[in-house]
Amino acid sequence: MTDSKNKPAPRPTIKAVRGTRDLLPDQTPLWNRVEATARAVFSRYGFGEIRTPVFEATELFARGVGEETDIVSKEMFTWEDRARAASEKAQNLTLRPESTAGVVRAYIEHKLGETGQLQKLYYIGPQFRRERPQRGRYRQFWQIGAEVIGPQTSGAESPLRDAEVLEMLASLLDELGIRDWKLELNSVGNAEDRARFNVALREALAPVKDRMCPDNQRRAETNPLRVLDSKEEADQEIINALPKIADYLGDESREHFEQVKAALDACGVPYHVNPRLVRGLDYYTRTTFEFTVTTGLGTQNALLGGGRYDGLSEMLGGPKAPGIGFAIGEDRLILTLQAQAEADAAASGIAPTEPKLDVYIAPLGIAQNPAALKLARELRREGLSVEVGDGSFKIGKSFGFADKLARHIILLGEDEVVTNVLTVKTFSTGEQVKVNRDVLADTLRG
Ligand code: HAM
Repeated sequence: MTDSKNKPAPRPTIKAVRGTRDLLPDQTPLWNRVEATARAVFSRYGFGEIRTPVFEATELFARGVGEETDIVSKEMFTWEDRARAASEKAQNLTLRPESTAGVVRAYIEHKLGETGQLQKLYYIGPQFRRERPQRGRYRQFWQIGAEVIGPQTSGAESPLRDAEVLEMLASLLDELGIRDWKLELNSVGNAEDRARFNVALREALAPVKDRMCPDNQRRAETNPLRVLDSKEEADQEIINALPKIADYLGDESREHFEQVKAALDACGVPYHVNPRLVRGLDYYTRTTFEFTVTTGLGTQNALLGGGRYDGLSEMLGGPKAPGIGFAIGEDRLILTLQAQAEADAAASGIAPTEPKLDVYIAPLGIAQNPAALKLARELRREGLSVEVGDGSFKIGKSFGFADKLARHIILLGEDEVVTNVLTVKTFSTGEQVKVNRDVLADTLRG
Protein backbone atom coordinates (compact mmCIF):
# COMPACT_ATOMS: atom_id res chain seq x y z
CA MET A 1 0.00 0.00 0.00
CA THR A 2 1.31 3.42 -0.87
CA ASP A 3 0.84 6.10 1.67
CA SER A 4 -1.24 8.02 -0.88
CA LYS A 5 -4.17 6.18 0.63
CA ASN A 6 -3.67 8.04 3.88
CA LYS A 7 -3.25 11.46 2.25
CA PRO A 8 -6.19 13.73 2.79
CA ALA A 9 -8.26 14.18 -0.35
CA PRO A 10 -7.51 17.48 -2.10
CA ARG A 11 -9.92 20.12 -0.97
CA PRO A 12 -12.58 21.15 -3.46
CA THR A 13 -11.90 24.54 -4.98
CA ILE A 14 -14.21 27.48 -4.36
CA LYS A 15 -15.62 29.27 -7.38
CA ALA A 16 -17.16 32.72 -7.80
CA VAL A 17 -20.89 32.53 -7.04
CA ARG A 18 -23.24 31.93 -10.00
CA GLY A 19 -23.92 35.17 -11.85
CA THR A 20 -20.84 36.96 -10.45
CA ARG A 21 -17.47 37.43 -12.18
CA ASP A 22 -13.90 38.49 -11.59
CA LEU A 23 -12.50 41.22 -13.80
CA LEU A 24 -8.82 40.50 -14.34
CA PRO A 25 -6.12 43.07 -15.17
CA ASP A 26 -6.39 42.41 -18.91
CA GLN A 27 -10.03 43.55 -18.73
CA THR A 28 -9.99 46.41 -16.24
CA PRO A 29 -8.21 49.00 -18.45
CA LEU A 30 -11.29 49.13 -20.70
CA TRP A 31 -13.58 49.47 -17.66
CA ASN A 32 -11.41 52.30 -16.37
CA ARG A 33 -11.42 54.05 -19.75
CA VAL A 34 -15.22 53.84 -19.92
CA GLU A 35 -15.59 55.17 -16.37
CA ALA A 36 -13.09 58.00 -16.95
CA THR A 37 -14.93 59.06 -20.12
CA ALA A 38 -18.28 58.96 -18.31
CA ARG A 39 -16.92 61.07 -15.44
CA ALA A 40 -15.46 63.62 -17.87
CA VAL A 41 -18.71 63.89 -19.84
CA PHE A 42 -20.86 64.12 -16.69
CA SER A 43 -18.74 66.91 -15.27
CA ARG A 44 -19.14 68.90 -18.52
CA TYR A 45 -22.90 68.82 -17.83
CA GLY A 46 -22.53 69.90 -14.21
CA PHE A 47 -23.00 66.51 -12.51
CA GLY A 48 -21.27 65.64 -9.23
CA GLU A 49 -20.61 62.14 -7.93
CA ILE A 50 -22.71 60.55 -5.18
CA ARG A 51 -21.80 57.28 -3.43
CA THR A 52 -24.61 55.56 -1.58
CA PRO A 53 -24.45 52.28 0.40
CA VAL A 54 -24.69 48.95 -1.46
CA PHE A 55 -27.34 47.79 1.01
CA GLU A 56 -30.42 49.61 2.15
CA ALA A 57 -33.61 48.89 4.09
CA THR A 58 -35.75 46.47 2.04
CA GLU A 59 -38.65 48.87 2.51
CA LEU A 60 -36.90 51.44 0.28
CA PHE A 61 -37.13 49.20 -2.78
CA ALA A 62 -40.57 47.82 -1.90
CA ARG A 63 -41.94 51.36 -1.81
CA GLY A 64 -39.70 52.96 -4.44
CA VAL A 65 -39.37 50.32 -7.16
CA GLY A 66 -42.73 48.65 -6.42
CA GLU A 67 -43.83 45.42 -4.67
CA GLU A 68 -45.31 43.99 -7.86
CA THR A 69 -42.24 44.44 -10.07
CA ASP A 70 -40.12 41.42 -11.00
CA ILE A 71 -37.16 43.10 -9.33
CA VAL A 72 -38.81 43.36 -5.91
CA SER A 73 -41.02 40.27 -6.01
CA LYS A 74 -38.43 37.82 -7.37
CA GLU A 75 -34.92 39.16 -7.73
CA MET A 76 -33.71 40.86 -4.57
CA PHE A 77 -31.00 39.54 -2.26
CA THR A 78 -32.67 40.18 1.08
CA TRP A 79 -31.87 39.01 4.58
CA GLU A 80 -32.95 39.67 8.11
CA ASP A 81 -30.20 41.45 9.94
CA ARG A 82 -30.11 40.39 13.57
CA ALA A 83 -30.04 42.97 16.32
CA ARG A 84 -26.62 42.97 18.04
CA ALA A 85 -27.60 45.03 21.04
CA ALA A 86 -30.75 45.73 23.00
CA SER A 87 -30.77 49.22 21.49
CA GLU A 88 -30.95 47.81 17.94
CA LYS A 89 -33.93 46.34 16.13
CA ALA A 90 -33.71 43.45 13.68
CA GLN A 91 -34.42 44.73 10.20
CA ASN A 92 -34.75 43.51 6.65
CA LEU A 93 -31.91 44.61 4.44
CA THR A 94 -31.41 44.25 0.69
CA LEU A 95 -28.42 44.48 -1.63
CA ARG A 96 -29.42 47.32 -3.94
CA PRO A 97 -30.95 46.08 -7.20
CA GLU A 98 -30.69 49.61 -8.61
CA SER A 99 -29.55 52.99 -7.34
CA THR A 100 -32.29 55.53 -8.09
CA ALA A 101 -34.24 54.74 -4.91
CA GLY A 102 -31.05 55.10 -2.82
CA VAL A 103 -30.10 58.39 -4.48
CA VAL A 104 -33.58 59.83 -3.86
CA ARG A 105 -33.43 58.58 -0.24
CA ALA A 106 -30.13 60.44 0.15
CA TYR A 107 -31.64 63.54 -1.51
CA ILE A 108 -34.42 63.50 1.10
CA GLU A 109 -32.19 62.55 4.05
CA HIS A 110 -29.66 65.33 3.38
CA LYS A 111 -32.39 67.85 2.52
CA LEU A 112 -30.70 68.59 -0.78
CA GLY A 113 -33.92 70.16 -2.02
CA GLU A 114 -33.59 72.97 0.51
CA THR A 115 -30.79 74.51 -1.51
CA GLY A 116 -33.46 75.34 -4.10
CA GLN A 117 -30.97 74.18 -6.74
CA LEU A 118 -31.33 71.42 -9.25
CA GLN A 119 -29.26 68.43 -8.07
CA LYS A 120 -27.30 66.65 -10.79
CA LEU A 121 -25.86 63.46 -9.34
CA TYR A 122 -24.04 60.54 -10.91
CA TYR A 123 -22.87 57.18 -9.60
CA ILE A 124 -20.82 54.19 -10.71
CA GLY A 125 -21.21 50.95 -8.81
CA PRO A 126 -22.36 47.34 -8.48
CA GLN A 127 -26.04 46.35 -8.34
CA PHE A 128 -27.51 42.95 -7.45
CA ARG A 129 -30.44 41.03 -8.94
CA ARG A 130 -31.16 37.32 -8.72
CA GLU A 131 -31.84 36.87 -12.44
CA ARG A 132 -31.12 33.85 -14.63
CA PRO A 133 -27.53 34.49 -15.70
CA GLN A 134 -26.70 34.65 -19.41
CA ARG A 135 -24.53 36.76 -21.72
CA GLY A 136 -25.04 40.38 -20.60
CA ARG A 137 -27.11 39.38 -17.58
CA TYR A 138 -25.45 38.84 -14.21
CA ARG A 139 -26.42 38.71 -10.56
CA GLN A 140 -23.81 41.31 -9.70
CA PHE A 141 -23.54 43.87 -12.46
CA TRP A 142 -22.32 47.44 -12.75
CA GLN A 143 -24.25 50.56 -13.53
CA ILE A 144 -23.14 54.02 -14.52
CA GLY A 145 -26.11 56.19 -13.73
CA ALA A 146 -27.18 59.78 -13.23
CA GLU A 147 -30.17 61.56 -11.73
CA VAL A 148 -31.43 65.14 -12.10
CA ILE A 149 -33.72 66.02 -9.24
CA GLY A 150 -34.90 69.13 -7.45
CA PRO A 151 -37.81 71.14 -6.08
CA GLN A 152 -40.36 72.24 -8.66
CA THR A 153 -39.00 75.79 -8.58
CA SER A 154 -35.60 74.50 -9.77
CA GLY A 155 -37.02 73.56 -13.16
CA ALA A 156 -36.58 69.82 -12.52
CA GLU A 157 -39.87 69.09 -14.23
CA SER A 158 -38.97 70.87 -17.45
CA PRO A 159 -38.85 68.80 -20.67
CA LEU A 160 -35.54 70.56 -21.28
CA ARG A 161 -34.06 68.32 -18.56
CA ASP A 162 -35.31 65.15 -20.26
CA ALA A 163 -33.81 66.28 -23.54
CA GLU A 164 -30.53 67.34 -21.89
CA VAL A 165 -30.13 63.91 -20.25
CA LEU A 166 -30.85 62.15 -23.55
CA GLU A 167 -28.51 64.42 -25.50
CA MET A 168 -25.78 63.79 -22.89
CA LEU A 169 -26.24 60.03 -23.31
CA ALA A 170 -26.03 60.30 -27.08
CA SER A 171 -22.80 62.32 -26.73
CA LEU A 172 -21.35 59.88 -24.19
CA LEU A 173 -22.07 56.84 -26.37
CA ASP A 174 -20.59 58.65 -29.39
CA GLU A 175 -17.49 59.60 -27.41
CA LEU A 176 -17.08 56.00 -26.23
CA GLY A 177 -17.29 54.86 -29.84
CA ILE A 178 -20.58 52.91 -29.58
CA ARG A 179 -21.62 52.88 -33.22
CA ASP A 180 -25.10 51.47 -33.63
CA TRP A 181 -27.13 52.78 -30.72
CA LYS A 182 -30.84 53.35 -31.08
CA LEU A 183 -32.85 55.55 -28.71
CA GLU A 184 -36.34 54.22 -27.99
CA LEU A 185 -38.61 56.78 -26.40
CA ASN A 186 -42.07 56.80 -24.88
CA SER A 187 -44.26 58.64 -22.40
CA VAL A 188 -46.14 56.64 -19.79
CA GLY A 189 -48.05 59.73 -18.65
CA ASN A 190 -48.59 61.10 -15.17
CA ALA A 191 -50.32 59.25 -12.31
CA GLU A 192 -53.84 60.16 -13.54
CA ASP A 193 -53.11 59.15 -17.15
CA ARG A 194 -51.66 55.89 -15.90
CA ALA A 195 -54.71 55.18 -13.72
CA ARG A 196 -57.05 55.71 -16.73
CA PHE A 197 -54.84 53.58 -18.94
CA ASN A 198 -54.70 50.79 -16.34
CA VAL A 199 -58.49 50.60 -16.25
CA ALA A 200 -58.60 50.35 -20.07
CA LEU A 201 -55.86 47.74 -20.08
CA ARG A 202 -57.57 45.59 -17.47
CA GLU A 203 -60.78 45.75 -19.46
CA ALA A 204 -59.01 44.80 -22.68
CA LEU A 205 -57.08 42.00 -20.96
CA ALA A 206 -60.05 40.42 -19.17
CA PRO A 207 -61.44 38.47 -22.14
CA VAL A 208 -58.01 37.45 -23.57
CA LYS A 209 -55.70 36.93 -20.62
CA ASP A 210 -56.50 33.23 -20.23
CA ARG A 211 -54.87 32.65 -23.63
CA MET A 212 -51.60 34.21 -22.44
CA CYS A 213 -48.55 32.66 -20.75
CA PRO A 214 -48.75 32.21 -16.93
CA ASP A 215 -46.42 35.18 -16.35
CA ASN A 216 -48.63 37.50 -18.37
CA GLN A 217 -51.76 36.12 -16.70
CA ARG A 218 -50.23 37.08 -13.36
CA ARG A 219 -49.18 40.51 -14.64
CA ALA A 220 -52.65 41.11 -16.06
CA GLU A 221 -53.90 40.80 -12.50
CA THR A 222 -51.17 42.56 -10.54
CA ASN A 223 -49.53 45.09 -12.89
CA PRO A 224 -51.18 45.14 -16.34
CA LEU A 225 -48.72 47.73 -17.69
CA ARG A 226 -45.96 45.12 -17.50
CA VAL A 227 -47.77 42.91 -20.03
CA LEU A 228 -46.87 45.50 -22.67
CA ASP A 229 -43.13 44.86 -22.59
CA SER A 230 -43.44 41.07 -22.43
CA LYS A 231 -41.15 39.32 -24.90
CA GLU A 232 -43.29 36.13 -24.93
CA GLU A 233 -43.51 35.27 -28.64
CA ALA A 234 -46.89 33.52 -28.50
CA ASP A 235 -48.56 36.51 -26.80
CA GLN A 236 -47.43 39.21 -29.24
CA GLU A 237 -50.57 39.23 -31.35
CA ILE A 238 -52.76 39.86 -28.30
CA ILE A 239 -50.36 42.48 -26.94
CA ASN A 240 -50.22 44.38 -30.22
CA ALA A 241 -54.00 44.72 -30.16
CA LEU A 242 -54.08 46.19 -26.61
CA PRO A 243 -54.78 49.91 -26.06
CA LYS A 244 -51.81 52.29 -26.51
CA ILE A 245 -50.72 54.62 -23.69
CA ALA A 246 -50.35 57.46 -26.23
CA ASP A 247 -54.15 57.53 -26.56
CA TYR A 248 -54.57 58.03 -22.81
CA LEU A 249 -52.14 60.88 -22.21
CA GLY A 250 -53.71 64.03 -20.79
CA ASP A 251 -52.90 67.43 -22.32
CA GLU A 252 -50.09 68.13 -19.85
CA SER A 253 -48.26 64.86 -20.48
CA ARG A 254 -48.77 65.12 -24.23
CA GLU A 255 -47.38 68.67 -24.30
CA HIS A 256 -44.40 67.64 -22.14
CA PHE A 257 -43.60 64.75 -24.49
CA GLU A 258 -43.90 67.02 -27.56
CA GLN A 259 -41.42 69.43 -26.03
CA VAL A 260 -38.93 66.66 -25.24
CA LYS A 261 -39.10 65.51 -28.86
CA ALA A 262 -38.80 69.08 -30.20
CA ALA A 263 -35.63 69.66 -28.14
CA LEU A 264 -34.14 66.37 -29.36
CA ASP A 265 -34.97 67.35 -32.94
CA ALA A 266 -33.25 70.70 -32.40
CA CYS A 267 -30.12 68.91 -31.13
CA GLY A 268 -30.22 66.38 -33.97
CA VAL A 269 -30.49 63.39 -31.60
CA PRO A 270 -32.40 60.63 -33.45
CA TYR A 271 -35.09 58.63 -31.60
CA HIS A 272 -37.86 56.13 -32.27
CA VAL A 273 -41.11 56.40 -30.37
CA ASN A 274 -41.96 52.95 -29.00
CA PRO A 275 -45.45 52.97 -27.45
CA ARG A 276 -44.78 49.63 -25.71
CA LEU A 277 -41.77 50.88 -23.75
CA VAL A 278 -43.15 50.90 -20.20
CA ARG A 279 -40.04 49.71 -18.26
CA GLY A 280 -39.91 47.34 -15.32
CA LEU A 281 -39.91 49.77 -12.40
CA ASP A 282 -43.06 51.36 -10.99
CA TYR A 283 -41.73 54.85 -10.28
CA TYR A 284 -41.79 56.09 -13.85
CA THR A 285 -43.98 58.96 -14.98
CA ARG A 286 -44.04 60.62 -18.41
CA THR A 287 -40.75 60.15 -20.31
CA THR A 288 -39.29 56.62 -20.45
CA PHE A 289 -36.43 55.51 -22.68
CA GLU A 290 -33.92 52.80 -23.51
CA PHE A 291 -30.85 52.79 -25.73
CA THR A 292 -30.43 49.48 -27.53
CA VAL A 293 -27.57 48.18 -29.67
CA THR A 294 -27.33 45.48 -32.31
CA THR A 295 -23.68 44.43 -31.77
CA GLY A 296 -22.53 42.02 -29.10
CA LEU A 297 -25.49 41.67 -26.74
CA GLY A 298 -27.87 39.18 -28.35
CA THR A 299 -31.23 39.22 -26.59
CA GLN A 300 -30.03 41.44 -23.72
CA ASN A 301 -29.82 44.37 -26.10
CA ALA A 302 -30.81 47.17 -23.69
CA LEU A 303 -27.61 49.04 -23.07
CA LEU A 304 -29.25 51.47 -20.70
CA GLY A 305 -32.64 52.52 -19.45
CA GLY A 306 -34.21 55.40 -17.64
CA GLY A 307 -36.98 57.89 -17.35
CA ARG A 308 -38.79 60.47 -15.28
CA TYR A 309 -40.01 59.76 -11.73
CA ASP A 310 -41.89 62.84 -10.58
CA GLY A 311 -43.62 61.11 -7.62
CA LEU A 312 -40.75 59.02 -6.23
CA SER A 313 -39.60 61.45 -3.54
CA GLU A 314 -43.14 61.66 -2.14
CA MET A 315 -43.51 57.87 -2.30
CA LEU A 316 -40.44 57.76 -0.02
CA GLY A 317 -41.90 60.31 2.40
CA GLY A 318 -39.98 63.28 0.99
CA PRO A 319 -41.01 66.64 -0.46
CA LYS A 320 -42.26 67.02 -4.01
CA ALA A 321 -39.14 66.65 -6.14
CA PRO A 322 -39.54 65.78 -9.81
CA GLY A 323 -36.62 63.94 -11.34
CA ILE A 324 -35.25 62.14 -14.35
CA GLY A 325 -32.34 59.77 -14.73
CA PHE A 326 -30.86 56.70 -16.31
CA ALA A 327 -28.54 53.79 -15.66
CA ILE A 328 -26.16 52.31 -18.19
CA GLY A 329 -25.43 48.58 -17.85
CA GLU A 330 -21.63 48.88 -17.75
CA ASP A 331 -21.11 45.14 -18.33
CA ARG A 332 -23.21 45.41 -21.49
CA LEU A 333 -21.42 48.56 -22.63
CA ILE A 334 -18.09 46.74 -22.31
CA LEU A 335 -19.41 43.66 -24.19
CA THR A 336 -20.51 45.95 -27.00
CA LEU A 337 -17.15 47.73 -27.20
CA GLN A 338 -15.32 44.39 -27.18
CA ALA A 339 -17.57 42.98 -29.91
CA GLN A 340 -16.97 46.10 -32.01
CA ALA A 341 -13.20 45.86 -31.53
CA GLU A 342 -13.24 42.16 -32.51
CA ALA A 343 -15.28 42.94 -35.62
CA ASP A 344 -12.83 45.72 -36.56
CA ALA A 345 -9.83 43.45 -36.00
CA ALA A 346 -11.40 40.72 -38.15
CA ALA A 347 -12.12 43.26 -40.92
CA SER A 348 -8.62 44.81 -40.88
CA GLY A 349 -6.65 41.63 -40.14
CA ILE A 350 -4.79 43.52 -37.38
CA ALA A 351 -5.10 42.10 -33.88
CA PRO A 352 -5.77 44.72 -31.20
CA THR A 353 -2.57 45.47 -29.30
CA GLU A 354 -2.38 45.36 -25.54
CA PRO A 355 -0.88 48.24 -23.66
CA LYS A 356 2.73 47.55 -22.65
CA LEU A 357 5.00 48.69 -19.86
CA ASP A 358 7.87 51.02 -20.73
CA VAL A 359 10.66 48.77 -19.55
CA TYR A 360 11.61 45.43 -18.04
CA ILE A 361 14.77 45.41 -15.92
CA ALA A 362 16.62 42.09 -15.99
CA PRO A 363 19.23 41.79 -13.21
CA LEU A 364 22.08 39.55 -14.39
CA GLY A 365 22.58 37.49 -11.20
CA ILE A 366 20.91 37.72 -7.81
CA ALA A 367 23.64 40.05 -6.56
CA GLN A 368 22.14 42.71 -8.88
CA ASN A 369 18.58 42.36 -7.47
CA PRO A 370 18.89 45.27 -5.00
CA ALA A 371 20.36 47.55 -7.70
CA ALA A 372 17.55 46.49 -10.09
CA LEU A 373 14.89 47.37 -7.53
CA LYS A 374 16.62 50.71 -6.84
CA LEU A 375 16.72 51.53 -10.57
CA ALA A 376 13.03 50.54 -10.90
CA ARG A 377 12.17 52.80 -7.98
CA GLU A 378 13.96 55.75 -9.57
CA LEU A 379 12.42 55.22 -13.02
CA ARG A 380 8.91 54.79 -11.58
CA ARG A 381 9.40 58.06 -9.70
CA GLU A 382 10.31 59.61 -13.06
CA GLY A 383 6.88 58.46 -14.29
CA LEU A 384 7.81 55.32 -16.22
CA SER A 385 6.05 51.97 -15.95
CA VAL A 386 8.53 49.28 -14.95
CA GLU A 387 8.64 45.56 -14.22
CA VAL A 388 11.64 43.97 -12.51
CA GLY A 389 12.79 40.43 -13.27
CA ASP A 390 14.84 38.30 -10.91
CA GLY A 391 18.59 37.67 -10.92
CA SER A 392 17.97 33.93 -10.70
CA PHE A 393 16.42 33.87 -14.21
CA LYS A 394 18.45 32.70 -17.19
CA ILE A 395 18.78 35.45 -19.76
CA GLY A 396 16.53 33.65 -22.26
CA LYS A 397 13.77 33.47 -19.68
CA SER A 398 14.12 37.21 -18.93
CA PHE A 399 13.82 38.01 -22.65
CA GLY A 400 10.77 35.74 -22.89
CA PHE A 401 8.96 37.58 -20.08
CA ALA A 402 10.14 41.04 -21.15
CA ASP A 403 9.06 40.67 -24.77
CA LYS A 404 5.46 40.05 -23.71
CA LEU A 405 5.35 42.74 -21.03
CA ALA A 406 7.39 45.72 -22.09
CA ARG A 407 8.68 47.82 -24.99
CA HIS A 408 12.30 47.82 -23.78
CA ILE A 409 14.59 45.63 -21.69
CA ILE A 410 17.55 46.78 -19.59
CA LEU A 411 20.21 44.17 -18.85
CA LEU A 412 21.66 45.07 -15.49
CA GLY A 413 25.05 43.50 -14.73
CA GLU A 414 27.74 44.48 -12.25
CA ASP A 415 29.49 46.71 -14.86
CA GLU A 416 26.34 48.67 -15.57
CA VAL A 417 25.81 49.31 -11.88
CA VAL A 418 29.38 50.54 -11.46
CA THR A 419 29.63 52.65 -14.64
CA ASN A 420 26.03 53.93 -14.72
CA VAL A 421 25.96 53.15 -18.44
CA LEU A 422 23.03 50.87 -19.23
CA THR A 423 22.26 48.51 -22.10
CA VAL A 424 18.78 49.07 -23.49
CA LYS A 425 17.18 46.87 -26.12
CA THR A 426 14.04 47.97 -27.96
CA PHE A 427 11.86 45.03 -29.01
CA SER A 428 10.04 46.69 -31.93
CA THR A 429 13.30 47.53 -33.76
CA GLY A 430 15.68 44.94 -32.29
CA GLU A 431 18.09 47.84 -31.68
CA GLN A 432 20.46 47.72 -28.68
CA VAL A 433 22.15 50.86 -27.34
CA LYS A 434 24.29 51.94 -24.41
CA VAL A 435 22.80 54.85 -22.54
CA ASN A 436 23.99 57.06 -19.69
CA ARG A 437 21.82 56.87 -16.59
CA ASP A 438 21.00 60.61 -16.76
CA VAL A 439 19.32 60.30 -20.18
CA LEU A 440 17.85 56.85 -19.57
CA ALA A 441 14.25 58.00 -18.87
CA ASP A 442 14.16 60.09 -22.08
CA THR A 443 15.45 57.17 -24.12
CA LEU A 444 12.83 54.83 -22.68
CA ARG A 445 10.05 57.31 -23.33
CA GLY A 446 11.07 57.79 -26.95
P1 HAM B 1 -32.98 49.13 -15.41
O1 HAM B 1 -33.58 49.19 -16.77
O2 HAM B 1 -33.52 48.15 -14.46
O3 HAM B 1 -33.12 50.61 -14.81
O4 HAM B 1 -31.43 48.92 -15.54
C1 HAM B 1 -30.65 49.79 -16.34
C2 HAM B 1 -29.66 48.97 -17.14
O5 HAM B 1 -28.88 48.16 -16.28
C3 HAM B 1 -30.28 48.01 -18.15
O6 HAM B 1 -30.61 48.67 -19.35
C4 HAM B 1 -29.12 47.03 -18.35
O7 HAM B 1 -28.19 47.56 -19.30
C5 HAM B 1 -28.47 46.99 -16.99
N1 HAM B 1 -28.89 45.78 -16.26
C6 HAM B 1 -30.04 45.55 -15.61
N2 HAM B 1 -30.05 44.30 -15.08
C7 HAM B 1 -28.88 43.73 -15.41
C8 HAM B 1 -28.27 42.46 -15.16
N3 HAM B 1 -28.88 41.52 -14.43
N4 HAM B 1 -27.04 42.21 -15.68
C9 HAM B 1 -26.39 43.15 -16.39
N5 HAM B 1 -26.91 44.38 -16.66
C10 HAM B 1 -28.13 44.67 -16.17
C11 HAM B 1 -32.67 50.96 -13.59
O8 HAM B 1 -31.96 50.31 -12.90
C12 HAM B 1 -33.09 52.38 -13.20
N6 HAM B 1 -32.57 52.65 -11.84
C13 HAM B 1 -32.57 53.39 -14.19
C14 HAM B 1 -32.96 54.78 -13.86
C15 HAM B 1 -32.20 55.71 -13.26
N7 HAM B 1 -34.16 55.30 -14.05
C16 HAM B 1 -34.17 56.55 -13.62
N8 HAM B 1 -32.97 56.80 -13.12
